Amino acid sequence: MSSQRKRIGILTSGGDCPGLNAVIRGAVKSSAQLGHECIGFLKGYEGLVDPVQYVPLSHENTTGILNQGGTILGSTNKGRFVATVGIDDRAEIDPKLIEGVRTTINQLNIGGLICVGGDGSLAIAQQVHENGIPVVGVPKTIDNDLSATAFTFGFDSAVTCATDALDRLHTTAASHERIMVLEVMGRHAGWIALHAGIAGGGDVILIPEIPWTFENICHKILDRESHGKRFTLVVVAEGATLPTGEMVADEQAGGGQVRLGGIGAIVAAEIEKRLHRETRTAVLGHLQRGGPPTTFDRVLATQFGAHAVRLVTQGQLGQMICYRPPSFDSVPISEAVHQLSRVRPDGAAVHSARALGISFGDLLTDASPFAQYGSPEATLDQLEAATEEALQV
Ligand code: F6P
Repeated sequence: MSSQRKRIGILTSGGDCPGLNAVIRGAVKSSAQLGHECIGFLKGYEGLVDPVQYVPLSHENTTGILNQGGTILGSTNKGRFVATVGIDDRAEIDPKLIEGVRTTINQLNIGGLICVGGDGSLAIAQQVHENGIPVVGVPKTIDNDLSATAFTFGFDSAVTCATDALDRLHTTAASHERIMVLEVMGRHAGWIALHAGIAGGGDVILIPEIPWTFENICHKILDRESHGKRFTLVVVAEGATLPTGEMVADEQAGGGQVRLGGIGAIVAAEIEKRLHRETRTAVLGHLQRGGPPTTFDRVLATQFGAHAVRLVTQGQLGQMICYRPPSFDSVPISEAVHQLSRVRPDGAAVHSARALGISFGDLLTDASPFAQYGSPEATLDQLEAATEEALQV
């Protein structure tokens, strides 16, 4: 193999999402154009060591995967490689694992390892790079929480799924005059909730970045009723903190990451308790991570694959490809994992949402007579009386 022609390794790590196969295909196709050869390591970083597991990647086994969800290489967000223990706390990877990776890379004569992953997986890539192993990063996550890139692939597909869910919940909410609470993913960022809430006609959006209260949610519901809207759609991000300051988590998952979830049911129960209105919850969960990528994600992921190969070809190691419309750029992986991208409460999307009358549960827009009834002590009679009163206004 000439010095320009390389053997490139590819791995997909962390939670799967639509578009991973499009990256693999994009990288394999553009590698073929440049005379590179590709191999894919299985199950994320795990496939790099003990036992080493890989497959040669070619036109034959990557054709037809552009529109397939998941990853043909498999992935894991648990296992032996852990480089973070919290949002920004570093954990050192076991040096024996790093040595194992080095041995594999040398033995297989890998000139560049493309690591496709989110924050945690790129933090692993960074440590691998610091140990002199030739790595480039590709940002992936439905959460869209990597600060160096305007968008990660997977996000648009997740938002599309959540928007579709809201469209479906809307009809039942309207038909039965119910309050529907939809819990979506996103970890510590409210991007999915915010975008789906805007796209799907949500009335209340609860996100980790904006503190909220049950009183203000109830106020919005009653305010809508006073305008003849006897149903409400509430979108809540799994990472939104309760007014008491707690996050709702299931259990401690392997790899140190807390498994978030359950806030939707709490919000629904509290609304029902305070307003005595029929309230239901839907938790979208992994539906947001499955299925074919949207057109936007296919285009983004394909370009990421091609640009990652370009970075390897140019020897820009330790870099992560990023999308900064209208261009693609790259940044040191260390910068990319340094800071999470979260919704800015004073950002354009939040402003636009507020302009439409969407509530983030944080403001009483006026001195509504309903404000006092958003407390758990209010009786059904009081609430009905307040609604009647408002309907006559
Ligand atoms: O980071 C992607 C993500 O889907 C988060 O939104 C969610 O909190 C987490 O992964 C779920 O992980 P798991 O598939 O391990 O339950």
